[in-house]
Amino acid sequence: MLRVEDITHSYKSGNEWTSVLHKINFAVKEGEMVALLGSSGSGKSTLLNLMAGLMKPTEGHIYIADKDIVKMGENKLAEFRRKNIGFIFQAYELITSLTVRENVELPLVFQSVSPRARKAKALALLEQVGIPDKADLFPSQLSGGQQQRVSIARSLITEPSVIFADEPTGNLDSKTEEEIISILLNLNRTMKTTFIVVTHEYKVAEQMQRIFTLKDGFLITESQREPQVQTEPQIEPQLELKTEVQGEEQIAEEAEPQTMVEVEEQLAAGAEQEAVEPQTAAADEDPPAEEPEHQTAAEADPAEGGKP
Ligand SMILES: Nc1ncnc2c1ncn2[C@@H]1O[C@H](COP(=O)(O)OP(=O)(O)O)[C@@H](O)[C@H]1O
Ligand SMILES: [Mg+2]
Repeated sequence: MLRVEDITHSYKSGNEWTSVLHKINFAVKEGEMVALLGSSGSGKSTLLNLMAGLMKPTEGHIYIADKDIVKMGENKLAEFRRKNIGFIFQAYELITSLTVRENVELPLVFQSVSPRARKAKALALLEQVGIPDKADLFPSQLSGGQQQRVSIARSLITEPSVIFADEPTGNLDSKTEEEIISILLNLNRTMKTTFIVVTHEYKVAEQMQRIFTLKDGFLITESQREPQVQTEPQIEPQLELKTEVQGEEQIAEEAEPQTMVEVEEQLAAGAEQEAVEPQTAAADEDPPAEEPEHQTAAEADPAEGGKP
């Protein structure tokens, strides 16, 4: 489902070009969970950002679901990313002015999903990552591990085909690291989402199905782990991810908000609607949310969590 072909990347600083990735080739199958292992400066983040379409390589091709994202134009790529790619950052990158639930909902504000469906899905995912009771708190009221759980829920809400995680436990103590990795492993097992996890720690990498090791920009080894005997009970999928919730239909063709202010307005509108809506209201009578003004700015792309 993901194929990296002859990827080479150089950064320019001043008049000098520094080559940081050299002819990288590998492929990841649908539903696999792989680690990208290497010491600091080996090129892991560069490779991850290229695969996530956050920047273009100097040379080479990257196919996701048979589409070469290197060749895609800016707008098409942005849309492709929103629909197919999730990203988890080392520093969580949550929006401090939004509640936990609103942060998780955020990527869906850019798709035509009704506020009620959005909310239900966010709550289900918060349950799935083990913090159903934190929905109405703000990120600053949570521990680091809890914030990373929020960011995991946010990365899943669009049901992406692949999730890229850049040192997702890099800011966490080792006990919390274990919890977060086990959540990711469980999500991979139960939801069959493909994960590419960057880490510099072998003890994290060895838990994944395969390890790709980078050294000084070269892919030096690829190792496959023997399937392990399950020692812990598998968590049953608690959630069937659907964009429809209890017969509620998606609001088709709704204009997408383009700025952070519009996003906040949309989220607030959803909350108000929720408050006045009688519980028995026919699902298909939901008024479409107000149409926000069209703007071209795309700063508030939630899939990128505010990073480049
Ligand atoms: N934006 C940039 N401009 C110039 N050099 C960069 C930039 N980003 C990373 N590098 C360099 O590229 C190399 C690989 O960096 P990176 O991909 O961040 O490695 P890792 O994530 O494995 O620590 C490093 O030598 C780093 O200094
Ligand atoms: Mg890095």
